[in-house]
Amino acid sequence: MTSKIGLFYGSTTCYTEMAGEKICEFIDKTYSNVTVEIYDIALNPVQRMSEYQYLILGIPTWDFGELQEDWESIWEEIDTLDLTGTLVALYGLGDQIGYPEWFQDALGYLCEKVKMQGASTVGTWPTKGYEFKQSKALTDNGEAFVGLSLDDENQSELTDKYIERWCIQIIDEFRLS
Ligand SMILES: Cc1cc2nc3c(=O)[nH]c(=O)nc-3n(C[C@H](O)[C@H](O)[C@H](O)COP(=O)(O)O)c2cc1C
Repeated sequence: MTSKIGLFYGSTTCYTEMAGEKICEFIDKTYSNVTVEIYDIALNPVQRMSEYQYLILGIPTWDFGELQEDWESIWEEIDTLDLTGTLVALYGLGDQIGYPEWFQDALGYLCEKVKMQGASTVGTWPTKGYEFKQSKALTDNGEAFVGLSLDDENQSELTDKYIERWCIQIIDEFRLS
């Protein structure tokens, strides 16, 4: 049986979109029993998220620790979703050198938001190898990000490798492998 994952992203300058496409491509080619359906949240109703038991959500941080604009537009609509029983893996785009005090903050806000709606999250990612001062996207013990942290401004050479490693991790944590 084929399992479906819904990937929803918001993206202003396309980096989060490109990462989403790479995630889809990698999962589709690596796992014959899993397909990923990708949605730009600017163009699709947020209620579509409720159709999936497995979600991947992509969000960049903008403007000193703020949500990306398309996520901001639908932020309150997320409150209407019932995500009980849904497993969610999150990824974020940020710039650790340019914005070290707000690195990946929006990733943390989105994680909290979906947990409030009943979702369980997977896919935490180690902070080792990053340099930043503060982030609202850290796990309680401060040793990991709540999701995959990508920085195409400063570490673009790591993006593909991180995506592949993280996809294998989340498919395992979704128990789809
Ligand atoms: C004006 C501006 C503000 C930004 N603010 C932050 C920030 O507060 N924290 C952070 O981690 N990254 C910040 N970034 C970096 C973006 O998250 C990064 O460029 C990301 O790749 C954009 O993703 P997108 O192309 O999908 O919109 C900022 C970038 C710009 C241009």
